[in-house]
Amino acid sequence: MTATLLVLWLGIAGDAAGAESQVPDAKAEDATQAVIDDVEKQCLERTVYMIGRKKAVRLAELVRRRKPKLVVECGSAIGYSGLWIARELNRYGGKLITIEISPERAKEAQENYRRAGLAGVVTSKVGDARQVVHQIEGPVGFVFLDCGYANYLPCLQGLQDKLSEKAVVVADNVGMGAGGMSDYLEHVRNNYQSRTEWFDIDLPWGKRDAMEISVKK
Ligand SMILES: C[S@@+](CC[C@H](N)C(=O)[O-])C[C@H]1O[C@@H](n2cnc3c(N)ncnc32)[C@H](O)[C@@H]1O
Repeated sequence: MTATLLVLWLGIAGDAAGAESQVPDAKAEDATQAVIDDVEKQCLERTVYMIGRKKAVRLAELVRRRKPKLVVECGSAIGYSGLWIARELNRYGGKLITIEISPERAKEAQENYRRAGLAGVVTSKVGDARQVVHQIEGPVGFVFLDCGYANYLPCLQGLQDKLSEKAVVVADNVGMGAGGMSDYLEHVRNNYQSRTEWFDIDLPWGKRDAMEISVKK
């Protein structure tokens, strides 16, 4: 899909369209990139499952185009995908709420956001995302689901009434985990403008995977 078609498909303007750009200086951006690289290395060395670089680049691009004021991420792990999202948000004043069930992982993720200079962008919540989403105040312009395949549908259902117009919902592991999230895929494919995007990836736990990118009608 060309960039122009993608913009049309996602809607012309994002939630924060017209917001003043707050591009951080090059030194701060380099520091953020160094933390992203380090967290990626740690995930690979310790087998902490994470989105991987190819899908992260695409995820960040989707955030950049949609320009949500608020992103909700379900499944932080140690913060890899959150760092990619938060870096985009930091450029125009958006915010990320990320939810992780493991207190140890959430603590590590918080430290990584801090090291990357992104602590002010991210609110990290510890708990079961299926419940925590009910406490979030909308409007939510972008959702990233990566917290156990069977949890995708309950998480989205908990956020459904808070989604802004043309909100974007991205689900990870739609290639590897399609069988475990068939209820979710059926729901978004029937009720959202939804497409599956495939990636050749280079992760120890998989070589090909997909993300489902769904836009609220
Ligand atoms: C694949 S990892 C997330 C990777 C992360 N999004 C990234 O790309 O860096 C999945 C995470 O979801 C967390 N998780 C599992 N069930 C959850 C739930 N019900 N609520 C919140 N987090 C959950 C796990 O502890 C794990 O850290």
